[in-house]
Amino acid sequence: MKYKGVIFDLDGVICSTDHYHYLAWKALADRLGIYFDETINNRLRGVSRMASLEIILERYNGTLSEEEKLAAAEEKNNLYRELLKEMTPADLSPEVKNTLDALRAKGLLLGIGSSSKNTKFILSRIGLGDYFDKISDGTNITRSKPDPEVFLKGAEYLGLGPKDCLVVEDAKAGIEAALAAGMDAAAIGDATSCGLATYNLSAFSDLLNCVE
Ligand code: BG6
Ligand code: MG
Repeated sequence: MKYKGVIFDLDGVICSTDHYHYLAWKALADRLGIYFDETINNRLRGVSRMASLEIILERYNGTLSEEEKLAAAEEKNNLYRELLKEMTPADLSPEVKNTLDALRAKGLLLGIGSSSKNTKFILSRIGLGDYFDKISDGTNITRSKPDPEVFLKGAEYLGLGPKDCLVVEDAKAGIEAALAAGMDAAAIGDATSCGLATYNLSAFSDLLNCVE
C-alpha cells in the first residue's frame, strides 16, 4: 500500500453541500443588496466562513464593522444549518460509502480534513457520525486552506507522517494545502482543472487505484 491513511475534505467530496451554502449566502447577500451568483459561490469552495464573507463583501457598497461581520456570518450559518437539517443518509452516495468501506478493508486509516465548523453535524446528518477514525476541521484550526494546518493536524490525530497520507479534495485551495503539507493529493470535480494534483479522479471509486 502506498499510504497508511486517507484524509478527505468533506464539502464537495464526501457529500454535496454547495447548494445549501449558496442559498444561505444568497439570502444574506440579497438582504445587504450585494450581487451574488453561483460563479462567486464557486470561489468559496474550501475557504473558511469569515474569508467567504470577505469575498462576498468585495461587491458591497458600504462597510461593516468587525462586530457586524460576525453577526452577518452567524446569520448565514443559522440559515445554512436549517437547510442542513434536510440532509439524510440518502445524501451519502452508495459509491462513496462502498469506496470508503473498501479503503478501510485494505487497512487504511480514514480521516476528515475540512474547513467547516459544521463537520460533525453534517457527518451525523448523512449517517457517518461515528465513521471516521479522526476528524480535523474548522473547530481545531486557526488558518484556513490553502494553509496546510488542517491536514497536518489530521495526520497528527491519525498518528501518521505527511508522506503516509493521501488527501482527497474538490477545491484548488485544498490541493494547495495538501501539497504544502507534504502530502499527495487526489483531485475530484472542480479541483481537477487546477492541474496541481498528484491524481485526477473522474469518479470517487478511482481512489481505489491510487492507493496501491
Ligand atoms: C468548506 C466549504 O468545507 O467549509 C466552504 O467548502 C465553507 O465553502 C467552509 O465556507 C466553512 O464552512 P462552515 O460550515 O464552517 O461555515
Ligand atoms: Mg470541498
